[in-house]
Amino acid sequence: MHIALFGATGGTGREVVAQALTQGHRIKALVRDPTRVPAQDGLTLIPGDVLDATATRQCITGTEAVICVLGSKPKQPPIEARGTAVIVEAMQASAVRRLIAVTSMGAGDSRRQLNPLFRWIMDLSLKAIMQAKAEQEQLIRASGLDWTIVRPGGLTDGPRTGTYRHGLDKSIKGGRISRADVAEFVLAQLDDRHYWQKTPAVT
Ligand SMILES: NC(=O)c1ccc[n+]([C@@H]2O[C@H](COP(=O)([O-])OP(=O)(O)OC[C@H]3O[C@@H](n4cnc5c(N)ncnc54)[C@H](OP(=O)(O)O)[C@@H]3O)[C@@H](O)[C@H]2O)c1
Repeated sequence: MHIALFGATGGTGREVVAQALTQGHRIKALVRDPTRVPAQDGLTLIPGDVLDATATRQCITGTEAVICVLGSKPKQPPIEARGTAVIVEAMQASAVRRLIAVTSMGAGDSRRQLNPLFRWIMDLSLKAIMQAKAEQEQLIRASGLDWTIVRPGGLTDGPRTGTYRHGLDKSIKGGRISRADVAEFVLAQLDDRHYWQKTPAVT
């Protein structure tokens, strides 16, 4: 499949690139600094910021699915909702319908799936980012696209194991999962309709 990727220089994004290319997919990735990504067969880099509507549209045009693993640094204005608004508009204009976006366990109606102590820590340190993720999820739900929102628990840089839990059951609590396993789960959604218009947790 031909995939447009946002967040390719991040921890999860790098895993998505590596696994997708191994699986024979082609990727167009929008990156702010192309020197940070080694050239590889099947990978086309579009230099730019997701807030640049022209660059974002260029990245999406001609692809069959969009994967969004954008993330923000604390103390900077969160990118999730603002960037997703540009992506959704570009998808609607380009008639690309499939969107898989990684948000977080704790976003939107999954807030109660976090234990109270962790919820308190998130409220203290990540309030703006979690608000942006909730807005991002609302934008995606209202987009009319064929979306899946993936909500991982705490991310690690551990290896790909293939042994993680995923589902819609609210009894799934925030555990940990490697970025490599999140990437595997995200890529598995490309040709699986089970979680269309749904928000699975993965831990
Ligand atoms: N950390 C956790 O435990 C945890 C838990 C659950 C969910 N999550 C979420 O999971 C997702 C993936 O996490 P991660 O740690 O793999 O992400 P990450 O390493 O922080 O990567 C974020 C990516 O977003 C890109 N980005 C940010 N602003 C951009 C902009 N204006 N234009 C274009 N690209 C931009 C970054 O590009 P640059 O390299 O140019 O900055 C980078 O490629 C994030 O949404 C994160 O919040 C994290």
